[in-house]
Amino acid sequence: MDFYEVIKKRRSIRKYKDRPVEEEKLRRVLEAARIAPSAKNAQPWKFIVVKDKKIREKFKAAYAGEWFWTAPVLICACGLKEEAWRRWDGKSYLDVDVTIAMDHLILAATAEGLGTCWIGAFDVSEVKKILDLSQGEEPIALTPLGYPAISPEPRWRKPWDEVIQFK
Ligand SMILES: Cc1cc2nc3c(=O)[nH]c(=O)nc-3n(C[C@H](O)[C@H](O)[C@H](O)COP(=O)(O)O)c2cc1C
Repeated sequence: MDFYEVIKKRRSIRKYKDRPVEEEKLRRVLEAARIAPSAKNAQPWKFIVVKDKKIREKFKAAYAGEWFWTAPVLICACGLKEEAWRRWDGKSYLDVDVTIAMDHLILAATAEGLGTCWIGAFDVSEVKKILDLSQGEEPIALTPLGYPAISPEPRWRKPWDEVIQFK
């Protein structure tokens, strides 16, 4: 699929088929995240892939949507707080770096015909507990991964003139 087609085709998918994700596809999607750029090339991230049904069920406590925890694969993008680059004014690039890698992953999934949905509204302490994360590991985003069972229409976006300026 052409790159721009991938960008246009991506949707947040909130219903998945009960069909496993092929290992090669999963690996390509994760590789897309692994090779993402990051500030100072710090790569302050870790992607935790959950296929185990019992563990997926535990995610109910972190994000209740059934379409989320019943998807065949769940991925948690974690930021490694101590490894992220800090700008001279103290700003940490942790969220920026993890977000870029997660977007690589999401677009790669689209190119593979797989669906995802960025989940930000989750219970952080529950995720830390379920995945046994250490103090320095911050869950930043979750996504289900699987074959879409729906094909939503594109969502509204602000018009070009409102978001793009040429000076
Ligand atoms: C940072 C971020 C957090 C989000 N959190 C959630 C969420 O917690 N639950 C959810 O269902 N969708 C979530 N979404 C998906 C957005 O609602 C979705 O991207 C937006 O409505 C546009 O729809 P589209 O992705 O299909 O283009 C999130 C998206 C982003 C980028």
